[in-house]
Amino acid sequence: VRVSVKTSASYPVHATSLDKFASHISAERLPPGSVIILSDENVWNIHGDGLWNLCRSYWDRSTAMVIEPGEQSKSLEQLQRIYDRAFEFGIDRNTVIVAAGGGVIGDLAGYAAATLMRGLPLVHIPTSVIAQVDSSIGGKTGINHPAGKNLIGAFHTPRAVLTDPAFLRTLPEREFASGLAEVVKHALISDAGFGEWLSRQWDAIMQREDETLLTMVKRAAAVKVRVVEDDVLEHGHRAILNFGHTFGHAIEKVAGYGAFTHGEAVAVGMKAAVHLSSMLYPSLDADFALTLIDRIPIVPDPSDLAAGALIDAMRLDKKSRSGQLRFVCLEEIGKAVIVDGVDEAFVASAIERAKTA
Ligand SMILES: NC(=O)c1ccc[n+]([C@@H]2O[C@H](COP(=O)([O-])OP(=O)(O)OC[C@H]3O[C@@H](n4cnc5c(N)ncnc54)[C@H](O)[C@@H]3O)[C@@H](O)[C@H]2O)c1
Ligand SMILES: [Zn+2]
Repeated sequence: VRVSVKTSASYPVHATSLDKFASHISAERLPPGSVIILSDENVWNIHGDGLWNLCRSYWDRSTAMVIEPGEQSKSLEQLQRIYDRAFEFGIDRNTVIVAAGGGVIGDLAGYAAATLMRGLPLVHIPTSVIAQVDSSIGGKTGINHPAGKNLIGAFHTPRAVLTDPAFLRTLPEREFASGLAEVVKHALISDAGFGEWLSRQWDAIMQREDETLLTMVKRAAAVKVRVVEDDVLEHGHRAILNFGHTFGHAIEKVAGYGAFTHGEAVAVGMKAAVHLSSMLYPSLDADFALTLIDRIPIVPDPSDLAAGALIDAMRLDKKSRSGQLRFVCLEEIGKAVIVDGVDEAFVASAIERAKTA
């Protein structure tokens, strides 16, 4: 796939294998002078040798910076460390930044690349499900602030995204399962045929069979590519990617951050969104959507979540317009619509149903 965007150059998303990355890098004519590869400890401990050899094979000068894993690393402190290290290493406008890791590394290293010398060439090597199908595509980068997540950031288009689904084989079980929520989301909002494929291939996906993961990542990434191509700077349609997220963000908050993973909260949120959708669009095949979502393993029990608290949290969400509740709903499988001013009684009832079945 090749992403063409109206505001900046297009970039390729290659789903291949690590041993072919060097040839893709050279095909993209990335400057061969120097590279800084950023990764986190979990990824580097397992895949560091292969990633380091890749850098050494193409660039004249390489350095690696390995960051503490976890969301708390999307911080000003880590950013400062990256800046310090970059100037110590010696960079110029052609120094390439390689972000090799999950969404945390992609967002943090991407933002460092966006801001160092007003923008250095960036290559994403996404290693988690979320990074491969979602965060490495679309150009959003950033860090968190005590006032909220992703509040400091920039759009910075990568020169290439190099994806090897084999990385997913080493993801912890719960991270892998959580990432599948975003995969299911992409099918439900925009590709009914992919939804059918997912329900047929689910067992092979859970076994993490190589060929199956490759197809899954390609098809799920293609949905994100299509949606962001239509709406690069997030004026409208891109909002369908928030399917399940109005509920999901509220669940993460009300349950206490960390109780549900993001993906688990989105999975429960998508169930609520499907129930809401079937009230508004009775011809929707809600059973198909609910059956697919229910295959995503969810560790915590959602039945204790109070609908009232969730609705209060949703009103405060930055995605709600002036206190009005806004939801992404399914008109049919593969077709999402944005609905404003939904009746609160419907929302409460959708939450109750999502908690039980
Ligand atoms: N920029 C965007 O458009 C966008 C979109 C979605 C999410 N995000 C961001 O992405 C982040 C979440 O991404 P994530 O779920 O990848 O989180 P993450 O980067 O924290 O990775 C999850 C965990 O898996 C580990 N890991 C990653 N790849 C691995 C591998 N191959 N083998 C073993 N362990 C591995 C990481 O060390 C980490 O512990 C959030 O900060 C979110 O805001 C950004
Ligand atoms: Zn998400």
